[in-house]
Amino acid sequence: MKGLGATGGAGVVYGAMSAIGLAPAAAAAAFRPPAMGDLVGQAPGHHRVVVLGAGPAGLAAAYELGKAGYDVTVLEARTRPGGRVWSIRGGTEETDLNGETQRATFSEGHFFNMGATRIPQSHVTLDYCRELGVELQPFGNQNANTLVNYAGDTPLSKTSVTYREAKSDTYGYVAELLHKATSRGALDDVLSADDKAALAEFLTDLGDLSSDGRYLGSTRRGYAGEPGAGTDYGTQLPPYGMSDVIRSGLGRNFAFDFEYDQATIMMTPVGGMDRIYQAFTDRIGAERVRFGAEVTAVRNTPDGVTVEFREGGRPQSITADHVICTLPPHLVPRLDHNLPADVVAALGSAGRTSSGKLGIEYSRRWWETDQRIYGGASNTDKDIAQIMFPYDHFHADRGIVVGYYNTGPRHQAFESLTHRQRLAKALTEGAEIHGDVYRDGVTASFSGSWARTRFSESAWATWDQHSPEYRLLLQPVGRIWFTGDHLSNAIAWQHGALTSARAVVTAVHRRVAGAN
Ligand code: FAD
Ligand code: ALA
Repeated sequence: MKGLGATGGAGVVYGAMSAIGLAPAAAAAAFRPPAMGDLVGQAPGHHRVVVLGAGPAGLAAAYELGKAGYDVTVLEARTRPGGRVWSIRGGTEETDLNGETQRATFSEGHFFNMGATRIPQSHVTLDYCRELGVELQPFGNQNANTLVNYAGDTPLSKTSVTYREAKSDTYGYVAELLHKATSRGALDDVLSADDKAALAEFLTDLGDLSSDGRYLGSTRRGYAGEPGAGTDYGTQLPPYGMSDVIRSGLGRNFAFDFEYDQATIMMTPVGGMDRIYQAFTDRIGAERVRFGAEVTAVRNTPDGVTVEFREGGRPQSITADHVICTLPPHLVPRLDHNLPADVVAALGSAGRTSSGKLGIEYSRRWWETDQRIYGGASNTDKDIAQIMFPYDHFHADRGIVVGYYNTGPRHQAFESLTHRQRLAKALTEGAEIHGDVYRDGVTASFSGSWARTRFSESAWATWDQHSPEYRLLLQPVGRIWFTGDHLSNAIAWQHGALTSARAVVTAVHRRVAGAN
C-alpha cells in the first residue's frame, strides 16, 4: 500500500479508502476515532454489497460502506437490530429453542441487557457512540458494598461478607505476611535493605498495617453503625481471623477489575445497549436494513454472489458484488452454499459457549434502601455466579436486578430449566446471599440462554486466534467475506465485532479500488 494516494489515479484509491477512515496506514497507527469528517471520497463505480446479519459487525460494515457510497442491503433474520446486544423491556417476546415463549412485563422505562451491558473506556464502541450521538452513563463494575459468599470449611463459609471487609482483611493479612517475611530476612537473597524499606512502606499502605507491621483491622472494613455527628464515632467491627480469611478464598474475584477490559469504571448507553444499534439503523436508513429476512443460501457465482432468504414466509433472492457474512460461525455451514470444505471445517471448529441472564423486577429497591448497594455485583460460587444491581433509575420505586449472569457448567444448570424453575432456583440462591428480602416483591422476570436462542446458539466463540482455521476465515472466499467478534482479539466484546467489520470494509474497499 506504500505510495498509494501520492499522485494521480492512486489518489482516487487513497481518497476512497480514507473516505471511511480505514486506510491501512491509519489502522497501523494509533487508533483514530471514526468521524463523519472522514468522508472525503467515494468508491469508484456502483457496487452492491449485501450484509448478512444486523448485529454490531453487520451494522458497522453497512454504515462505513454507506459513507463511501456503496449500495448496501442488510438482511437480518430477527425483527430487531443488535444481535447479541439485546435489551429486554416490557413487551419483549421470545420463543427459545426449548420451545418456551416468554413475554416480558417489566415496567415502563425499565430494562436489562441480556447480552452486552458494559463498555471499557478504550473500546471503539465508545467512539461510535460519540459519532452516532448515543448518550452514555457510567456502569459500576465493582462495588465495595456488594457481597461475596463462598462455600468452604471455615467459619466464613456460606457467609455473606462485603467486598470492603473481604478486601481489607485479605490485603491486610497478605501485606502483614509479606512484611513479616521480609523483616525476618526470608527474602534477603532478592531484596536489598533499600528495597525492603520501600516494600515495607508499600505494604503498610496496602494493608493499613500498624507501625510494627501487623494487620489489626481497619476503618476500610466499614462500620456496623455509621459514624455521624459529635461523638458518634461509629461502631467498628474486628477483622476476621487470618487463617479463616486466607482459607475461605474471599479474594478469589479481586483480580476481576485488574483486567484490562473490566476496569471499575465502565460505560453504557442510557436506556439500554441496543440504543447503539437503533442509532446505526437510523443512520444507514431503515429501508436498507431488512428485518425478518432469514438467509438460507449464499453462493459465489462467476461474477458475483447470490443470496437466498425468506422474508414474511416468502423465498426471495438477491445478487451482489460482495457479501459480508456476520453470522455466528457455527451457523454458516447450515446455509445452502458452495464454500470449500476447508472453510466449512474452519467455521465448524469454533467452540460454543453457554451463558445467559435472568432479570428480576422488584417493586422496591431494597438493595439501595436496606443494603446501601448502588450498582456493581455480588459474587458467589453458587450456580448463579453473580447478582448484578441496576446502574440506572437510582431511588426509583422499582428496578431490575440481574439474578444471574454465568457461563459454562454453572449456566448449564439453568439452561434446560423452564423460566419458572430458573427463577425459583435463582431466588433460593440469591436469598442465601442477600437474605429473605430477595424473595419479596418480585413483579416480573425474564430469562435467556444464548445457546438456546435462535440465530445465536452460543454466547460467543472460543478458539485459538493463531490457529490455521481462524486465519483461513480472515481471507475471503471469492466475494464472500467473514466478519464478527469471533474474528477478532476481543471475542465477547462489541469492540471485536466493530474492529473486525472495519477490517473487512477496508479489505473490500481495497479490492474494489483494484489495490489487491
Ligand atoms: P451478533 O451480535 O451475533 O450478530 C449476528 C447477527 O446475525 C444477529 O443479529 C443474528 O440474528 C443474525 N443472523 C443469524 N443467522 C441469520 C440468518 N440465517 N439470516 C440473517 N441473519 C442472521 N460486548 C460488550 O461490548 N460488552 C459486554 O458487556 C458484553 N457482554 C456480553 C454478554 C453476553 C451474555 C453476550 C452473549 C455477549 C456479550 N458481549 C459484550 C458481546 C457482544 O454482544 C458481541 O461481541 C457482539 O454482539 C458481536 O456482534 P456480531 O455482529 O459479531 O454478532
Ligand atoms: N464481555 C463480556 C462481559 O463483560 C463477556 O461480560
